[in-house]
Amino acid sequence: MKFKSIKGTKDILPGEVEAWQHIEATVRRVMHSFNYREIRTPVFELTALFARSIGELTDIVSKEMYTFRDRSDESLTLKPEGTASVLRAYIQHNLGEQAPLIKVYYIGPMFRQERPQAGRLRQFHQFGAEALGSQSAQLDAEMMLIPLDIYQALGIAQSRLKINSVGCERCRPAYKEKLVRELMMSYDNLSPESRARVKQNPLRVLDSKDENDRQLTKHAPLMKDYLCQECSDHFAAVLALLDATGTPYEIDGRLVRGLDYYTKTAYEIISPALGSQDALAGGGRYDLLTQELGGKPTPAVGFAAGMERLIVALEKAGTTASGNQSPVLFIATIEEPARRWAFVKAHELRSQGLSVELDYLGRSLKSQMREANRQRSRYLLVVGEDELKSGLAKLKDMETGTETSVTLSDIQRALKR
Ligand code: HAM
Repeated sequence: MKFKSIKGTKDILPGEVEAWQHIEATVRRVMHSFNYREIRTPVFELTALFARSIGELTDIVSKEMYTFRDRSDESLTLKPEGTASVLRAYIQHNLGEQAPLIKVYYIGPMFRQERPQAGRLRQFHQFGAEALGSQSAQLDAEMMLIPLDIYQALGIAQSRLKINSVGCERCRPAYKEKLVRELMMSYDNLSPESRARVKQNPLRVLDSKDENDRQLTKHAPLMKDYLCQECSDHFAAVLALLDATGTPYEIDGRLVRGLDYYTKTAYEIISPALGSQDALAGGGRYDLLTQELGGKPTPAVGFAAGMERLIVALEKAGTTASGNQSPVLFIATIEEPARRWAFVKAHELRSQGLSVELDYLGRSLKSQMREANRQRSRYLLVVGEDELKSGLAKLKDMETGTETSVTLSDIQRALKR
């Protein structure tokens, strides 16, 4: 039997991984520029953590989680997103007592058992950030600027920021009632999915992709028009900061996120280069969640961005990082004792930080030289018995084709990186 990777998961092979490394390095650089510190949480958590935070009735919790019982009969779940884990860690380690504002970022795999399609995997990767401890609209805006800055640094020109306010526990209930009354008038004509949502999560009906649903809800009331003073002021403050930083955005009163924990700001960054799964990133404020999970009331805001989708968008933009991780030096050898000499020399050079390759397959000199070429090694050194005796060998610069005679004991000096 030949084993294959699980449906909806992907190997990232040499040649592809360089684009990932480039993205990760850019993410880290931009995160550090905003003074976010990295946090790494486990890949699995208690199932209840996600059910409590993301919401029992969301698609993620009701249909998509990788949940299993371990040998102690504990219900565990591979994390479908990062926010709940960050909050769990924040509460568990009393991070709020160490500093009034905690700003963290993460990069890592997430798991959702969705129907695999372009831009939708079962193991996918996100980078994201969370800021815990402040109500400031500056942080809401920052959570949009961070991914946008990362996209810009990577060369994604076209992305659209869509933003909404989903209100708070004071203004949302009355609005929800109003919306449900309105939706009930066309209830029988709504799609089955939207009908189910009318009672469970009516705001999500507005987000339906079904054309008929969209027609029916064309004049439905939108949360952004029913915000309380505090939410309305906060929304205006976020938009003003986006204006002040020259960040283009679209207000989308129908934008509702697929996770239940949001209050006030909710946003998505869309790439027109992607197909139906066009959300590059999403986030928002979740001021009630820490308390919901047993911590002290802590206003918070964050975002997460899909990395597979980013790679697709980069490919479409023609700006994928070319993955060249070539060795500086290839040492071609002619028989023993040159092979052993090369092994020891390579170790010495490697410990000085140089990337050095050897022949491990006992190939002919000609075929070793071909290999050095294939690997695009910057230099080629040929060593046999004569070279070992004289202590001198030919070093070929593979870029220019020029050959120089070098002292074997002092090769590193001749290597320009
Ligand atoms: P989310 O919208 O569920 O938010 O996911 C964020 C991003 O992850 C999406 O915009 C998409 O790019 C990527 N993504 C999600 N599911 C998949 C999938 N199956 N395959 C490939 N990519 C996917 C969250 O996860 C929230 N935790 C964001 C957040 C952080 N809100 C506040 N803080």
